[in-house]
Amino acid sequence: MTLPPSITPDYQRDWPRYFDAVASLGPRDTLIRAAGLHGQADPANPPMAVDIACGEGRDTRELLARGWRVWAFDATCQAIDRLSASVPRDQHHALSARVLRMEDAAAAEDWPGEVALVNASFALPFCDPAAFPSLWKRIVQCLAPGGRFAGQFFGDRDEWAVVRPASHWRRAEVDKLFKGFHFEHFEEVEKDGGDALGITKHHHLYHIVARRVG
Ligand SMILES: C[S@@+](CC[C@H](N)C(=O)[O-])C[C@H]1O[C@@H](n2cnc3c(N)ncnc32)[C@H](O)[C@@H]1O
Repeated sequence: MTLPPSITPDYQRDWPRYFDAVASLGPRDTLIRAAGLHGQADPANPPMAVDIACGEGRDTRELLARGWRVWAFDATCQAIDRLSASVPRDQHHALSARVLRMEDAAAAEDWPGEVALVNASFALPFCDPAAFPSLWKRIVQCLAPGGRFAGQFFGDRDEWAVVRPASHWRRAEVDKLFKGFHFEHFEEVEKDGGDALGITKHHHLYHIVARRVG
């Protein structure tokens, strides 16, 4: 099998380089949609979000600015350093951020419960597929009734699917995974284009905002 030059079999990327490339970009569309659907945060009882593989913090910063509390994690130290350094001092009390792998997160004792949002922007495809079922179970369990999931899944026709097919999903598989949710936004994208580091690839992914109803 010949792999495209942009990828390696273990899915490792140069994340600090990626953080540089996206540093000036605003929050993800899926996060903005989910926060908008939730509505204004009640300052007397701020909503709680989990931000999975938060990166340098583009979505966490937006949630904090909107008055949310955020429990954020990422496997890369630099991500958490950059996020912590970029959050205004008067919002630090609402942020809990730590270095943590998705593969270990399901067992984290302080993972909050009854959360209004689990945000996983371009995150879950990087979880070891063997650990994904426990992580997904934790995601679903931690959501309050009416709570939302926002994020992306990679599709089966994405160029990277040759590397780790189990991290790439057919549409019917995604539908099955989201049993007990109502899709509020579902956008399937398939196109050739550049990634964050400017490397051209064939993209196939699903942008999802879904509300827990079950
Ligand atoms: C494509 S970036 C997305 C970052 C951020 N959510 C965003 O939307 O910009 C993927 C992130 O996953 C993190 N990551 C990769 N493997 C991980 C793992 N096994 N557990 C936790 N985080 C991981 C990387 O450090 C990186 O920040």
